[in-house]
Amino acid sequence: MQDEQRVVSRRVFLAGSASGLALAGLGVSEDVMAGPVGSRKRSALKEAGPMLPPVPAILLSVKGKDGQPDEVSVVWTFVVNGSPPQVGVSVDHTHVAHGGISEHGQFVLNVPVAEIIIPFDHVDMNTHTVGDKYKLSGLTRGKAIMVDAPTVEECPIHLECKVIKAVELPPKRTLFIAEVVATSVVEGICDEAGRLKVAAANYFGMTPGSGEFYTMGKLVGHIGETVGRSDIKY
Ligand SMILES: Cc1cc2nc3c(=O)[nH]c(=O)nc-3n(C[C@H](O)[C@H](O)[C@H](O)COP(=O)(O)O)c2cc1C
Repeated sequence: MQDEQRVVSRRVFLAGSASGLALAGLGVSEDVMAGPVGSRKRSALKEAGPMLPPVPAILLSVKGKDGQPDEVSVVWTFVVNGSPPQVGVSVDHTHVAHGGISEHGQFVLNVPVAEIIIPFDHVDMNTHTVGDKYKLSGLTRGKAIMVDAPTVEECPIHLECKVIKAVELPPKRTLFIAEVVATSVVEGICDEAGRLKVAAANYFGMTPGSGEFYTMGKLVGHIGETVGRSDIKY
């Protein structure tokens, strides 16, 4: 097939394809000439990396170790189980949060919103050695309901966690698996049944591979769509 013909037939395919229409609706900057992502040539990058966009980037707060200031730091976070609610964080041995979690076995995961992206970056870019990171970032320290740990009040969702297992990960991280013993939200974040109203706040995720932060974009589906269910929320 000549190149010109190939381009034309791809255009025709895209115009009529579900993915083409869906992408147009999503506002995805799809290169029409390149075709749907599933049909393009794949190649390995020079460097392997955890390119899993998006990943929740959360503010972890924990009581200081041995009378040290309370710590707030940024961690990647993942859900381990919905019921019982269990989450995981991996914390570098060099980070002060590591000492606090190891000593107290409890912490809070504070879900940030785009409005605090600058304090969020201050937390990430500064080490505890410069002093109290609450003071430095301007974030407000609060008190958790069920665990002995500080919170970040600017965050609309708090997950209060107790460590149930710590796994050493060479070269220098510990994976803490924790049970969520309390979840609290500010007004307007959930409906009366406790279901999250996602559009009520500007949540964001980090995109490993580009180091950027993106808010949620559009609703594109829900769990159980193929079996006619919309009640599953986890
Ligand atoms: C998006 C993002 C994710 C991060 N995830 C982790 C993580 O999972 N574990 C970790 O130990 N540090 C992580 N960091 C880095 C630390 O949060 C940060 O450097 C830390 O707050 C430094 O504080 P400290 O030196 O006072 O401990 C992450 C940073 C960013 C920007």
